[in-house]
Amino acid sequence: MAQKMYYPPEELVKNAAVSGMEHYKRLVAEAEKDYEGYWANHARTLLDWKKPFTQVLDESNAPFFRWFADGVLNASYNCLDRHVAAGLGDKVAIIFEADDGKVTKVTYRELLARVSQFANALKSLGVKKGDRVLIYLPMGIEGVVAMQACARIGATHSVVFGGFSALALRDRIQDTGATVVVTSDGQFRGGKALPLKAIVEEAFVMGGCESVRHVIVNKRTGMDIEWHPERDLWWSDVIAGQSEVCEPEWVEAEHPLFLLYTSGSTGKPKGVQHSTGGYLTQVALTMKWTFDIKPTDVFWCTADIGWITGHSYVAYGPLAVGATQVVFEGVPTYPDASRFWRMIEAHKVSIFYTAPTAIRALIKASDATPEVHPRNFDLSSLRILGSVGEPINPAAWEWYYNEVGHGRCPIVDTWWQTETGAHMITPLPGATPLVPGSCTLPFPGIMAAVVDETGTELPWGHGGFLVIKKPWPSMIRTIWGDPERFKKSYFPEDFKGKLYLAGDGAIRDPETGYFTITGRIDDVLNVSGHRLGTMEIESALVAHELVAEAAVVGRPDDITGEAIVAFVVLKRPRPQGEEAKRLVKELQDWVAKEIGPIAKPKEIRFGENLPKTRSGKIMRRLLRQLAKGEEITQDTSTLENPAILEQLKG
Ligand code: PRX
Repeated sequence: MAQKMYYPPEELVKNAAVSGMEHYKRLVAEAEKDYEGYWANHARTLLDWKKPFTQVLDESNAPFFRWFADGVLNASYNCLDRHVAAGLGDKVAIIFEADDGKVTKVTYRELLARVSQFANALKSLGVKKGDRVLIYLPMGIEGVVAMQACARIGATHSVVFGGFSALALRDRIQDTGATVVVTSDGQFRGGKALPLKAIVEEAFVMGGCESVRHVIVNKRTGMDIEWHPERDLWWSDVIAGQSEVCEPEWVEAEHPLFLLYTSGSTGKPKGVQHSTGGYLTQVALTMKWTFDIKPTDVFWCTADIGWITGHSYVAYGPLAVGATQVVFEGVPTYPDASRFWRMIEAHKVSIFYTAPTAIRALIKASDATPEVHPRNFDLSSLRILGSVGEPINPAAWEWYYNEVGHGRCPIVDTWWQTETGAHMITPLPGATPLVPGSCTLPFPGIMAAVVDETGTELPWGHGGFLVIKKPWPSMIRTIWGDPERFKKSYFPEDFKGKLYLAGDGAIRDPETGYFTITGRIDDVLNVSGHRLGTMEIESALVAHELVAEAAVVGRPDDITGEAIVAFVVLKRPRPQGEEAKRLVKELQDWVAKEIGPIAKPKEIRFGENLPKTRSGKIMRRLLRQLAKGEEITQDTSTLENPAILEQLKG
């Protein structure tokens, strides 16, 4: 029973922001005793407020909670100006490494100037406080500049991951009603130039983008692009002649800093709305405590700005605390699978934060090609490692800990979500003893629990639903344009509307109370740390002219965590042999075009029908077993058409 625990090195404990478990427990007790006082204190000390707040948590319109609501501040001011004013102007804010290895460094002073200039450019195009700006950019300095510039003028940004399709982009433009789109001609990934502006064009052709007045295009690849002079503007032209000084727009703490779309259990992605004051408070605090960030650290979070991790721990968190960070354009396997280790060595990265999928892929690569193994590189600058986005299996954890961290760098396995804005359950590197595969204990001030279907807290050792019992500063405020869905999805009536339902299953260790996440409890898959709704993929499949019906499930995968398996019924006889192969490829490409390559089913199986109950409900639990290649051991007595199972076996 007793699991092996990994204790933080003494040197780290000594100097850590949260030093030892007693310290951690004191903080937890402090938050329990005076919850509002605890968070108010952090909001005051971590951020500069133009007008200090007097209210802390406003629960009057629960679950639409408000934090620090009468306070006024600006996120970009907090990320840039105040550091320059404090003498950090010459400190490097961003070390940008391009796909081809070219390195560009930007100081806080330069970043402030670039952000201000772009903010002025947006203003000159009529962008005002509260307007939505859609950002469809690759990883790079411009992405961070565009996000910070929006924050500076009070515009609400919505970043769309560069791997999403034209349709996904169109849907997000339409839902946000964005007036400006910021993109680039293309992007470099793994030595290849891929189009972005062309995808924006496709989105426009689909219709629904009428709100957009301008498309700002950064020249990245120099590839040929379509050009609409009445609408399109080069980035270099819009900033030309703009001042490098821009007074920030002071906004209320609850002002929406950004919308970020994420998959739910229905077909349509949800626009998760985040605030300014509460969001930045918790993002800054987690930088200090989860990553123990110090002025001399070099921080590197490998996430793309298209995801929440890239928002909280690339575009805002590191800058909010005045840190130096690496921003990387490329992929971990180009020019070879030692890219991460080379970059850690070259930039003396001390805190490295990545996803289990990347670790698993790099383990496989270094098993096959010893030259790319981390042992060939000097990784002595590392002091803390992080994991995010999906469960990390103990074998990958051990490898990360031993081969990358040489047994001296704690791994912070951070559990959180797009909706939570910042870390929620995570070890603190100078305090928490680690157990591989467990995200350990709640961040001080976060009230996490495991409950049954009635919302009653379960004893440790019993698996159930992961919930958060009290509102927290960086929480989702609403779903853009759909407050009812917000209530229903996250504060369901079954739990009397009082508990935040995370959508994950969890179990606490009977002795330590440590949390282990057991996976999603809804129809959401996690493929390479990316969240995808099964219904979203099913909708994409049935939109194909040949498809009559489709059901999508996940199955465990060694590298990507989960893999997508689709069961498809065609409007024509069940295909066989070469025809089936051709149709699999066609449907895979179709889904990539409808949603994006990350949503491509790994496997597609055709049947004349799907396993259904007499009332016509698809029996997904059987499909999950079939997808795993298991014998059907479950009760099939309610199944209308048992013969179909044979057909759907892999
Ligand atoms: O299932 C959990 C998983 O990722 C989901 C959230 O996905 P997303 O909103 O895209 O945000 C990912 C980055 C924060 C969660 O509901 N997840 C995230 N972190 C972990 C995790 N599962 C296990 N362990 C984690 N550390």
